[in-house]
Amino acid sequence: MVKTLVTLVTLVTLGAAAGAGCGSTATPAPNTPAAPVADPPMSAGPVASAGAAGSVAASPAPTAPPRAEPPAPDPAQVKAALLAGETVAWTAAKPAFDKACASCHTKAGKKAAKKKLDHFDMTSYPPGGHHTATIGYTIREVLGLTDKPATMPYGKPGTVKGEDLASIKAWTDAWETAEKGGAHPPHGPDKDAD
Ligand code: HEC
Repeated sequence: MVKTLVTLVTLVTLGAAAGAGCGSTATPAPNTPAAPVADPPMSAGPVASAGAAGSVAASPAPTAPPRAEPPAPDPAQVKAALLAGETVAWTAAKPAFDKACASCHTKAGKKAAKKKLDHFDMTSYPPGGHHTATIGYTIREVLGLTDKPATMPYGKPGTVKGEDLASIKAWTDAWETAEKGGAHPPHGPDKDAD
């Protein structure tokens, strides 16, 4: 799984670089051996100028050699990569969610009820419910991954452990990375205080 993600991100990154390269033919790629430069940047610096006695005061402030701007990553591709990473992590965590949460938090769950689904509905992805905008943080909280004690699964808090808990935590991390990278739709703060 992780390997797939890495490959994906690498591909997207490479794609972004290649795409930007095509659009900016004026800027040589950093590793392209440039045509011989008559005046290498080092000799244009203040030290070289100082060598010419008397000319220091008169010379204008040395201007920095022109720097090749790194190509700006395509925001759409960055978002897509972040969301892809989140989805891969969700798929990996899904068995743990299914085991511990699905009975109450999916529409077909045996113990599902409107109130539970209104909080958290993992029938499809991204999860529904009024915590959607902050769901990665909320899940961390109810599973005791913050400084608060676990409150879920309801009636059996603290029973999600080991690899299950680790895979869910990994998903909350991927979710947070996507959230901070601006890959989620804009939203206000979680209105629900409970
Ligand atoms: C036996 C049924 C049941 C199971 C299993 C269960 N929940 Fe819940 N869940 C509830 C109920 C009931 C509430 C509403 C609790 C309340 O209002 O105090 C709730 C609320 C929540 C909320 C909102 C909590 C809040 O503070 O607002 C989240 C998030 C949540 N559950 C996540 C999970 C996760 C993740 C799992 C699996 C690890 C899980 N639940 C397992 C019944 C369940």
